[in-house]
Amino acid sequence: MVAAVRVHKVGGPEVLTYEDVEVGAPGPGQIRIKQHACGINFIDTYFRSGLYPAPSLPFVVGNEGAGEVTAVGSGVTNVKVGERVAYVTALGSYAAERLIAADLVVKVPDSISLEQAGGMMLKGMTVQYLLNRTFKVGKGTNVLIHAAAGGIGLIAGQWANLLGANVIGTAGSPEKAELAKRNGYHHVILYRDEDFVARVKEITGGTLCDVVYDGVGKAVFPGSLDCLRRRGMFVNFGNASGPIEAFSILILSQKGSLFATRPTLVHHIATRPELDATANDLFNVVTSGKVKIPINQKYKLKDAQRAHQELEGRKTTGASVLIP
Ligand SMILES: NC(=O)c1ccc[n+]([C@@H]2O[C@H](COP(=O)([O-])OP(=O)(O)OC[C@H]3O[C@@H](n4cnc5c(N)ncnc54)[C@H](OP(=O)(O)O)[C@@H]3O)[C@@H](O)[C@H]2O)c1
Repeated sequence: MVAAVRVHKVGGPEVLTYEDVEVGAPGPGQIRIKQHACGINFIDTYFRSGLYPAPSLPFVVGNEGAGEVTAVGSGVTNVKVGERVAYVTALGSYAAERLIAADLVVKVPDSISLEQAGGMMLKGMTVQYLLNRTFKVGKGTNVLIHAAAGGIGLIAGQWANLLGANVIGTAGSPEKAELAKRNGYHHVILYRDEDFVARVKEITGGTLCDVVYDGVGKAVFPGSLDCLRRRGMFVNFGNASGPIEAFSILILSQKGSLFATRPTLVHHIATRPELDATANDLFNVVTSGKVKIPINQKYKLKDAQRAHQELEGRKTTGASVLIP
């Protein structure tokens, strides 16, 4: 038996139950991992609350982790016992040990610690596809990123800056705004106090943004659309304040022939070449020191309830991990 955090009935943070679970030997194509760090992501709260349906109940929470391979099942050729690996999007990471399909993991380079890997794969690979594939950010691109001091936000600010963009962010407090400015943002708007649309107009001299990256959702819609130039790209990739409600597609025409998309990581790493290319790009920018991964909160596995309360209560910055 190993320690894990399970949900038996969906709900608030109080449904996260710290208990022992059975982890058997790996079946064909599977490996067993002793986990060193389990990433905490906003998506974990959506599965916990029932916004995103889990395949079955009870389930072990969590979508990201890193650790050491302790056993391999038949037919596994890509990893060996003792190797350091990380993975995303396979529900079941809030646990001291777990089984996982071997083809979902990537090897972690020596230059990156398992703690760092456990907290950066999901957010870092998301930033990789958002800035390079959903919209190609480059020199001089005017970019607006909501929740600039969050897990995605601090990585996205550094990476967009590296690509040469003019990086504008929003943040919930002056302390968060200062942190964002130390992580690539040229301008940070306090969107709880200021009219962020008016501030974007002012900062860009009326040019507005080429792209808006929005993981906040409901609370900043439709204002986010008013931050875009003609034919700009609206990227909603999350629901930290609740999902955006249904809207008429005509609004995209009225506001300047805008493009809008709602991407998710799983569709950008669905094939092995896509997963390898995305992970390698992330490993390269982190190893070079050009993008740093701020793991600003570390919790014991048994404190998962507090970790979710703090994430949903806007009390965290950067990335968070559970240490089994
Ligand atoms: N589609 C994808 O592929 C993908 C992948 C990973 C993550 N995501 C999404 O990206 C977003 C960020 O994820 P994360 O894990 O890095 O979280 P996070 O940004 O560290 O935390 C969410 C932040 O959103 C802001 N926020 C604004 N209104 C909020 C509200 N009503 N309640 C709670 N927070 C609020 C808060 O920052 P302020 O206090 O500064 O406002 C908070 O710190 C989430 O929406 C997540 O679902 C999407």
